[in-house]
Amino acid sequence: MKNVLVIGSTGQIGSELTMKIRNEIPGSTVVAGYIPGALLAVSLIPAEIADVRDSKALADIVRRYKIDTIYNLAALLSAVAEKKPLLAWDIQMNGLINILEIAKELGCAVFTPSSIGSFGPETPRKGTPQDTIQRPRSMYGVTKVATELLSDYYFHKFGVDTRSVRFPGLISNVTLPGGGTTDYAVEVYYSAVRGEEFVCPIGPGTYMDMMYMPDALNAAVAIMEADPSKLVHRNSFNIASMSFEPEELFSKIREYEPTLRVRYEVDPVRQAIANSWPDSMDDSCAREEWGWKPTFDLDTMTRDMLEKLRKRLLNA
Ligand code: SER
Repeated sequence: MKNVLVIGSTGQIGSELTMKIRNEIPGSTVVAGYIPGALLAVSLIPAEIADVRDSKALADIVRRYKIDTIYNLAALLSAVAEKKPLLAWDIQMNGLINILEIAKELGCAVFTPSSIGSFGPETPRKGTPQDTIQRPRSMYGVTKVATELLSDYYFHKFGVDTRSVRFPGLISNVTLPGGGTTDYAVEVYYSAVRGEEFVCPIGPGTYMDMMYMPDALNAAVAIMEADPSKLVHRNSFNIASMSFEPEELFSKIREYEPTLRVRYEVDPVRQAIANSWPDSMDDSCAREEWGWKPTFDLDTMTRDMLEKLRKRLLNA
């Protein structure tokens, strides 16, 4: 990839991915796509308004910058999507088909992430296989399964180079997620560093796959740079690095911030979604087909999160 458009560049993944591609892919031009009203950091420029629902404007950006790769990161996360299901469908599905049509016409590769949310209550929970039952009950999950199918359809039918990974809950110290089921695992680090009590919306014993952002970004770049002749799958690969439930996370944080205080106030919407998601995914296909390998575990992630947040929030 050389000329890249990151749609959703002000979001949790996009804000870091834009900078990573610029820094790591020599000679690349990365255009930061954003929607009006989003807080655009000056460092993200060159930037263009890129609403996935406006295919004319998107096609214009793709033509002007000779874009060869589109990262389509526009989405409502799981808890928000339950509140605004029609908007989630509009952004995630109508937005995607707009992008795929442009990619077909103008010859771009497309990355649209899927998620642990693409699985449902009938999916095997432990060691969730690459190819398995996907019958999610959340609107977020429905759009993610449909995203996988539509992306594969455009590959098989029209040869559009679509590739994707199923992200676990993503934890980062840069940009906060907005309205996901796994957000608690980010927010608790902020409470720990600020010395505030953390109110946890997910009950103890609820396991979910999680990943530190540097590994997620590596995956997003590596899959698009992978040798296509080695790919048996495309949309979308299980990737995994750690799985924990709230108590395990809090104990780990207390090793470094012993004063962390937590109270549970379980949110029934998020809890129901979490209960229907895998405990831990099997990512062997990603390892075999394009060399996926995570670098952070719960301990190394926790040390890095706390160090970076102490610096940023407390100047310490
Ligand atoms: N982090 C997302 C969410 O919780 C899952 O992919 O909605």
